[in-house]
Amino acid sequence: MITLKVNGSTRQVDVPPEMPLLWVLRDELGLTGTKFGCGAALCGACTVHVNGEAVRSCQTFAGDVEGTEITTIEGLGTPAALHAVQAAWNDHQVAQCGYCQSGQIMQAAALLAANPAPSDAEIDEAMNGNLCRCGTYPRIRAAIHTAAQTLARG
Ligand code: FES
Ligand code: FES
Repeated sequence: MITLKVNGSTRQVDVPPEMPLLWVLRDELGLTGTKFGCGAALCGACTVHVNGEAVRSCQTFAGDVEGTEITTIEGLGTPAALHAVQAAWNDHQVAQCGYCQSGQIMQAAALLAANPAPSDAEIDEAMNGNLCRCGTYPRIRAAIHTAAQTLARG
């Protein structure tokens, strides 16, 4: 048994410790907002937070994140109280097909937690590993600036 704290809830899962966290989230806990893209830490679709840091859940072993705080897109905000990044994504209508977007949002939220006012270059660097086949990069950048302004206003 592995005990994980996900979105504030303690969950026990009967999986081997080397199972990727992505598998646990999607198949064991039903948190399908986190997406499988490449399975090799190359696309960012599976990005979640571990203790506030953006990590690729496809390359994170479940046994290595016991005792941490894991947050997925389902735990970032609620429909009634969106996280500033989610609200900005709505305002800018960032998503196209949507497949990469939960990973993009989680990466952006971690960026803003570490750097509340990133420059375009800092955004591009931080988001560099999150691929979008639909090419939503300009809207992602604009939405991150909007979310930074919202967070700065408190
Ligand atoms: S599925 Fe994890 S980085 Fe692509
Ligand atoms: S919105 Fe389609 S892959 Fe990013």
